[in-house]
Amino acid sequence: MGFAEDFLWGAATSAAQVEGGFEMDGRSPSIWDVAPKEKIANGENCHDSAMQRTHYQEDVAIMKKMGLKAYRFSISWSRVMPKPHFVSRKGIQYYSDLVDELLKAGIEPLVTLYHWDLPLWAYELDGWESEALVPHFVEYVETVVTALSDRVRYWITFNEPSCFLMNGYMQGVHAPFKRKYLSLPRITRVFMLCNKAAVEAIRNNAILSPKVGLSFAFGVYLPEVKRDKASEEAAYIKSFSKQMGVMNNAWFLKPILEGKKVRAYGIYHTKGKPAVEYQVKFDFIAINVYSAFDYGSYGGNPHIDRSKVKYDAIGNAIDGDSLYYAVKFLYRRYHLPILVSENGMAADKEKVEDGHVHDSYRTDYIKEYLSSLKKAVNEGNEVIGYCHWSLLDNFEWAEGYRTRFGLIYVDWQSKERTIKDSFYEYSKIIAENGRSL
Ligand code: BGC
Repeated sequence: MGFAEDFLWGAATSAAQVEGGFEMDGRSPSIWDVAPKEKIANGENCHDSAMQRTHYQEDVAIMKKMGLKAYRFSISWSRVMPKPHFVSRKGIQYYSDLVDELLKAGIEPLVTLYHWDLPLWAYELDGWESEALVPHFVEYVETVVTALSDRVRYWITFNEPSCFLMNGYMQGVHAPFKRKYLSLPRITRVFMLCNKAAVEAIRNNAILSPKVGLSFAFGVYLPEVKRDKASEEAAYIKSFSKQMGVMNNAWFLKPILEGKKVRAYGIYHTKGKPAVEYQVKFDFIAINVYSAFDYGSYGGNPHIDRSKVKYDAIGNAIDGDSLYYAVKFLYRRYHLPILVSENGMAADKEKVEDGHVHDSYRTDYIKEYLSSLKKAVNEGNEVIGYCHWSLLDNFEWAEGYRTRFGLIYVDWQSKERTIKDSFYEYSKIIAENGRSL
């Protein structure tokens, strides 16, 4: 069986992490541009990062040469709307040009509308803590959809709500660096109202028939005993249970996809409102999968011999089964096509030697995860695409530039690009549509 002929072989990035050009096009700052120095490794910032804003033609040319079929990128809200109710023509033109460049190269644009870079002005209006954000978000979505939907078909409303809300407002490790545990029901509600309104805004305004989804950080539990039915069933149930460790999954998936309310930390996110208010109809579910929950601090699996586990440079355990079970469990529950919108690994000692970056570990990683994905596909789970994280080395949020995730190496001074060995290998896999995996 294998991958469909129109499988979306892709790579992903996000605006704050690769775009740079933070003051171009009349752009105003996002909450990440103003992150205090002491919150980011080595006091770095995302102001120019990989400068895709000015290097986008070169980046698309590389994608074309390597045979990518899809590129997932996000839009910087504050580039498009530097202040409330004001659209920057230059800002929106940049994304229009990027889309044209991709289509000329035969690459499908997959647009994420929000990947964590809340405009500072929106934050100052109380950001995710106030329902006043909803009409502003809708106005932004309508602006983007009106400008791009004659060419863009795939829309991802949000990237990993669990991360930007919990890391940003509860654990205080991501912008805006708040530790307000009690704000959880409110910020979740505001996010879910924005999501629902965004889905409607896309469907009401899109020119090409839209395909809409959201990228969940899907933490899966693995069967404790491999190839054991009872163990797999237990892992499935645990993966969707409402215990705190899996709050990521249940807290977001159940209201949005099932219209059900969930209780965690002793609270409901619905604030007395029916959860069905947050339910939307997606055309696909996007998932970002790095590692299974078994390896994490949330209810980790005590049976794992950690001395045998391989970790990447930011501490994500490497195990292709994570992707196989994530796809299998989600498809079993929701029966919606799945887009793997992120999967990749961080390395911390990469360098260019004679024009090459020898990252054989990343090639191994890609092969391990893609073989797992193929197994899931062969068992009948519908998967429409895979985007490696990341196309380029980038700004890894609070980790700054300490690690590299890219298929393309970026020299942080000159912004020169070098295609890594792993990208050549990924390109071969794409060319033969994963047949030899
Ligand atoms: C995020 C990316 C991030 C990646 C690697 C994902 O959670 O969506 O923005 O760079 O993980 O940590």
